[in-house]
Amino acid sequence: MSAAPIVYHNGKFVTQAEATLPLEDRGVLFGQSAYEVVRFYDGQAFALTEHLERFEHSLSVVGIPRVNELDELGALSTQLLERNQLANATVYWHVTRGAAPRSLALAAAASPTPNVFAMAYPQPKLDPMVSPASMRMMTIEDLRWGRCDAKSTMLLPAVLAREEAEANGFAGAILWRHDKAGRVVTESTQANVLFWLDDALRSHPRNEHILAGVSLTLLLELAKRRGLPVVEQAVAVSDLPRAAEIMLSGTSTHVAAVVEVDGRAVGNGTVGPITEALHADLLGEIRRRCAH
Ligand SMILES: Cc1ncc(COP(=O)(O)O)c(C=O)c1O
Repeated sequence: MSAAPIVYHNGKFVTQAEATLPLEDRGVLFGQSAYEVVRFYDGQAFALTEHLERFEHSLSVVGIPRVNELDELGALSTQLLERNQLANATVYWHVTRGAAPRSLALAAAASPTPNVFAMAYPQPKLDPMVSPASMRMMTIEDLRWGRCDAKSTMLLPAVLAREEAEANGFAGAILWRHDKAGRVVTESTQANVLFWLDDALRSHPRNEHILAGVSLTLLLELAKRRGLPVVEQAVAVSDLPRAAEIMLSGTSTHVAAVVEVDGRAVGNGTVGPITEALHADLLGEIRRRCAH
């Protein structure tokens, strides 16, 4: 990657220093913005349609009108990668509501133009032989807002939880919320959480409490194809010690094994067979779709 990374900013490719946002941008002032992350393998986007659909959903949840970039997100991302001489990378897209005089509710007559920008981050080339990453996680209460199904940039509670986890020597936090039944796991600070518990693959229902991961959705499908029982039902925090395997899934994470939670080993503390199998299935799907 060149010394000065090139970014996309409102229709132009410029250096990052040249791309600025107005102080009164509603994304800056209120976090009224949404983002999406698409991964490219040897120049090929993985699950672009699914990411686009979720981006549209996130933008509508946070009250941002549709932007033209959505129609050419793939082509613009490819140009961004070319300008940065990258083939294996994540492309981060961010749309803010735009700038208007500071007022919690946008004045009815105001129609600011959304600000759109994208940045590319290099990632390792896909290695089909790599094992799932092993992660030690801690549990932290999920204090995020009530619409976690939107990839909103209102990430402060996630940032604070991740910082607390890392300060305690963990790779991240498994978040929980209060349910009628007690504390249940939602997802993690950086990815979705799946459990192999009581001979079924379990994860929180894809509702407003979690981000419907593109990877999670695909993994549940791949698991069904393997004949594994799949149950979309929240898992109680008190059941964590009974889980034979716990895994994380995400565009950046792929499938990772959670080998320890709050200082207690998960299963025998190593990468389990279901995690290995689903990790291999996901990598296989990426290679099939991105022609590796
Ligand atoms: C909170 C959260 N949940 C889940 C995911 C996984 O989503 P995807 O598989 O679409 O990357 C992410 C990814 O960044 C995330 O930040």
